[in-house]
Amino acid sequence: MCGIVGYVGPRRVVPILLEGLRRLEYRGYDSAGLVYHHQGQLQRFRAKGKLVNLEEVVDEHIGVASGTGIGHTRWATHGAPTKDNAHPHTDCSGELVVVHNGIIENYSSLRSELTAKGHVFSSETDTEVLAHLIEEHLEDDLVAAVRAALAEVEGSYAVGVLWAREPELLVAARNQSPLVMGVGEEACFIASDIPALLPYTREVIFLDDMELAVLEKGRYTISRVDDAQLLDKAVTTIDWNAAMAEKAGFRHFMLKEIFEQPQAILNTVSGRIIPDTGLVELPEIGLDEADIRQLERISLVACGTSWHAALVAKYWLEKWVGIPVEVDIASEFRYRHLLLNERVLTIAISQSGETADTLAGIRRASSLGAKVLTICNVVGSTMTREADGVIYTHAGPEIGVASTKAFTSQLAALFLFTLYLGQVRGTMDSALRREYGSGLIALCGVIEAELPRLQKEIRALIEKYYTARDFLFVGRGVNFPIALEGALKLKEISYIHAEGYAAGELKHGPIALIDDDMPVLGLVPRDGVYQKTVSNLEEIKARQGRLVLIGTGGDQHLAGLSEDVLYLPEVLEDLNPLLYTIPAQLLSYEIAHRRGCDVDQPRNLAKSVTVE
Ligand code: G6P
Repeated sequence: MCGIVGYVGPRRVVPILLEGLRRLEYRGYDSAGLVYHHQGQLQRFRAKGKLVNLEEVVDEHIGVASGTGIGHTRWATHGAPTKDNAHPHTDCSGELVVVHNGIIENYSSLRSELTAKGHVFSSETDTEVLAHLIEEHLEDDLVAAVRAALAEVEGSYAVGVLWAREPELLVAARNQSPLVMGVGEEACFIASDIPALLPYTREVIFLDDMELAVLEKGRYTISRVDDAQLLDKAVTTIDWNAAMAEKAGFRHFMLKEIFEQPQAILNTVSGRIIPDTGLVELPEIGLDEADIRQLERISLVACGTSWHAALVAKYWLEKWVGIPVEVDIASEFRYRHLLLNERVLTIAISQSGETADTLAGIRRASSLGAKVLTICNVVGSTMTREADGVIYTHAGPEIGVASTKAFTSQLAALFLFTLYLGQVRGTMDSALRREYGSGLIALCGVIEAELPRLQKEIRALIEKYYTARDFLFVGRGVNFPIALEGALKLKEISYIHAEGYAAGELKHGPIALIDDDMPVLGLVPRDGVYQKTVSNLEEIKARQGRLVLIGTGGDQHLAGLSEDVLYLPEVLEDLNPLLYTIPAQLLSYEIAHRRGCDVDQPRNLAKSVTVE
């Protein structure tokens, strides 16, 4: 949802900005722009569309300037994705430039006031208001002018500001949009997310809401936006490295991340369960055992793919812990009448830890007295800092916009959490926890072994299906959310219309869509609802539906239903969602690639949605 970068230091600035933007492009790719100081002036370049267009424009300037600059990659909210609306935006004089991620909610009234004072606007964006507002307050102190302008602003922002007269100064601030500072020996950086900093430093400072940073060569200060008194902020060392955010020979990040899943799941589970004893340890969850025993309900809140992980966890937690679980889409949760109290645990599930709706959801839950836990992939992200406790998924940086390894790692973390609650509340004995803990670890090996074969079979299979206009995905029980996730993956990267349904629900409407033009992907492991699912698939076949099935190896009955069956090894029934997700991801990936789609950067989407 827009990415910003900034640099102050001795090195060539343009390559640093471009590399940072490349690593943030997953946040938006409607336009890109950058600006840097050169010989007493600000040089600004902008281009509509992907970063590659900006790279062409700045090409001959790449080695020109050393020093200070800021850059932006845009996911359009206010104003079409045009060059005029691309950041950085300037004031009337062209001497002051701003990059911004977020939404200035009162931009319309501010724009009218500024226009009345003679300011001339050249874009339709909310951001440009900020440039003119700072100009309005600017005499000779940029920091003071930024503070004064931000005091008038309502909404969310992560901003970087430069002024032509201060070539070694970058002012940055955040409120409700992520911003992290990088600290190097002679240089300081800002970025919307950690991967942009990894080639240069792993020492970072997470800015909190309403904080303002003043960056100069090799030094910085941090204070509140509304108070100049300096703050002493902790520097955190990140254990990701730059190579983890590279494609490592894969065609796309998404494919690489699909193949990284065995390791990502293992990293998430390792050290948290002792397979021999079935003992689960989650020291960072911020709840003591007495809190856990007193819980009356769990409320799971998330968006997109993370919401699907929550739906799976409901089946696990209710079955194994016997605790009622409700699951909400965060954008609904945050505005609905919530019945929460200190005996309801709210769990926010989020890869990024920055999704605006999920963040707002946990803030509401906290204000109502509920304890908040987050299951999150990004160390130091806003959710991890605001929640009472954290279970980190250790999936490593996920760059592909369509979430893959973060999802299966969330499932692993949620399964661990189920085992932990079962342990503390005495609903799962150690033998059961041992069986499931070992099963989860063993599953990593199963996925690792199956991935190459699955990819090969799916590549051949999709030749029949890649031109489809619609697709249905069906599953039952704990695999129903995987049908939703499979459909989401397919639609977001291939633009084929796809819907996921509980297999038993088809007859209440969607079955009317079935004809010989409608492929239906059925998730049909040999589990407790196997016969029921098979009956639903028979109903589809009877209506000439084209079935693609994913089921348990050796299940001959499936071969009678369809000529297109992908077989998977039998694993513990509750762990099927982790396994059955893999072919669904590969199917979407291969179809999208076959259709020539931009798999890692699908149209209209952004990975980290920091606006509501
Ligand atoms: C966006 C992404 C999805 C993701 C969702 C929630 O829509 O494209 O892949 O599942 O946000 O993101 P989060 O970081 O909160 O898991």
